[in-house]
Amino acid sequence: EKIVVGVDIGGTSVKVGICDLNGALLHTYEGPTEADKGTEVACNNIASYARLIVEQSPYSWEQVEGVGVGTAGFLDIPNGIIKFSPNLGFRNVPLKAILEEKLGKKVLVNNDANVAALGEAWAGAGRGVDHCVCYTLGTGVGGGIIIGGKIVEGFAGMAGELGHMSIVPDLEAIQCGCGKMGCLETVSSATGIIRMAKDAVERGDRTSLSFVPNIMAKDVVDAAKAGDEVAARIVTRAAYYLGKSMAQVAVVLNPQRFIVGGGVSKAGEFLFEQIREAFQKATPDIVAEGVEIVPAVLGNNAGVVGAAGLIIRS
Ligand code: BGC
Ligand code: NA
Ligand code: ZN
Repeated sequence: EKIVVGVDIGGTSVKVGICDLNGALLHTYEGPTEADKGTEVACNNIASYARLIVEQSPYSWEQVEGVGVGTAGFLDIPNGIIKFSPNLGFRNVPLKAILEEKLGKKVLVNNDANVAALGEAWAGAGRGVDHCVCYTLGTGVGGGIIIGGKIVEGFAGMAGELGHMSIVPDLEAIQCGCGKMGCLETVSSATGIIRMAKDAVERGDRTSLSFVPNIMAKDVVDAAKAGDEVAARIVTRAAYYLGKSMAQVAVVLNPQRFIVGGGVSKAGEFLFEQIREAFQKATPDIVAEGVEIVPAVLGNNAGVVGAAGLIIRS
């Protein structure tokens, strides 16, 4: 019986999972990434977690068909090289080659959000839908485009970098980690929401957030839900640009379903209603018709399941 290992590399932790060939997640394990200690430490960690999870399971390393990896950043997907990952601090890391050497198995590397999208399309909110586009709202804003059950990668692997759609008008734009101004990520990520909240507090806006010591995105959402107008404006702004970016994607790709995951999506209907409203406002009715905007369902597991899917479905 064959198994596949899925790896989801995040800024703070690496999640690994064992899947059977149907994509059922059998075991998971999580350990620190330690990207701040350098590429070598991080790569050693990743390889050791992959081995560890198999050792601790009833399976043997011989049963591993391959290792699928999702990681944040701009990737040369065909060669499995992380070209630049602002949120991890990686530059030109040949991850596929490093891990194949360490693990002695076939390794496929893809973008974290592409992989989460594949997971959702395969076993989550995109089941049975041929054209779906996923957003992940976390430290950054990730994107993944699935058409006909396959990830759209583009010629160099940069397709689906939806967080870097330039969408905020120049006069209000700030610089993104990618170096450009006005990216979606600057307003719709958890980081963006936190930044806008801290700015408001510093400006002296009247908001309950001034009494929160270490503001998290959830605090802003909770305050907005409780009627805090400053917090509500921030959440609305995040939702507005997200919906507006979907309008642009809709006229380009005509996906049937937009799936939104990541920590910020836990804000629930409060957030989704506003995203839908912004989307409807900016999309020709005839294009918007039948298009759904729904929350992701696999939560934290989308990454490992989708990463395993890279091996199983290729
Ligand atoms: C990166 C993407 C990544 C996303 C979510 C963005 O800043 O450019 O590659 O998918 O963050 O981690
Ligand atoms: Na992507
Ligand atoms: Zn950017």
